[in-house]
Amino acid sequence: MIRNFLTILDLDREQAHALVRRADEMKRARFTSDLLAGKTLVLVFEKASTRTRLSFEIAVRQLGGSTIFMTDRESQLGRSEPLKDTARVISRYADGLIVRTFGQEKLDELTRYAAIPVVNALSDQYHPCQVMSDCLTMFERTPDLAALTVAWVGDGNNMAHSFINAAVHFGFDLRLACPSGFEPQAAVLERARALGARVTLTADPAEAVRGADYVNTDVWASMGQEHEHHGRAKIFGPYQVSDELLRLARPGCKVMHCLPAHRGEELTEAVMEGPASIVWDQAENRLHMQKAILEWIYS
Ligand code: CP
Ligand code: NVA
Repeated sequence: MIRNFLTILDLDREQAHALVRRADEMKRARFTSDLLAGKTLVLVFEKASTRTRLSFEIAVRQLGGSTIFMTDRESQLGRSEPLKDTARVISRYADGLIVRTFGQEKLDELTRYAAIPVVNALSDQYHPCQVMSDCLTMFERTPDLAALTVAWVGDGNNMAHSFINAAVHFGFDLRLACPSGFEPQAAVLERARALGARVTLTADPAEAVRGADYVNTDVWASMGQEHEHHGRAKIFGPYQVSDELLRLARPGCKVMHCLPAHRGEELTEAVMEGPASIVWDQAENRLHMQKAILEWIYS
């Protein structure tokens, strides 16, 4: 059976926990192997990337495989060849597809037509590899994830959706503070709650951050929403993660951001560079989690 990884809910609880433990082990062991020897994975990215691209390309190499990176700009995708056709062609050459795109429905369609595993490297709706890696970043400090209070401050975006899904499996108390009109999709929240996740939603950042062990934020306008940036900046001002806001959190609370960050917008320069920030560990952990995900798919 082909294993795809399109959302965190493609994993069951056991698998999600096993991936975090395995990535932690791989990190400590500086793990390399020949699991992917003779295999080529194709990365198809319709949006920019630094971390996701590099961590996947390096992870594949550390597992003995090779990669080809392709964007819509220099391929026929940019001239309207459908993803479903591209998926069928790549399936004839390669052993896996790692895709960064817009709508989740594009990934779903591509997966229907691909004969090889497909990994979601970020869509408008989810960023599962990032959030699994963020769970590793919390786990290595505080292994009992179910005992944690995690705040999300800002846009109810792809990252927020994946944190909501992660709350299903890891059991932390997730408190989201989003401006009115920028909440996560109701269907994502309802599904997670029906599966037992402890998730609350407020418009008040102070309420979400009070007593939190981790405070997460992300850009106010995601890729594809650049034209909304100006309008959003006016609305999102009160959601900036600052030292003042962090005084409400638990002492020793850590601040997380998937990066790239906009200092002076969703978080202050002082917070980004200060002792609470664990953003560089988050970026590093992408590599270890990608290896664990690839091992889960190809073992
Ligand atoms: N966090 C993240 O996915 O970064 P990139 O957009 O650089 O891949
Ligand atoms: N929410 C951001 C995450 C970037 C890694 C975006 O989609 O642009």
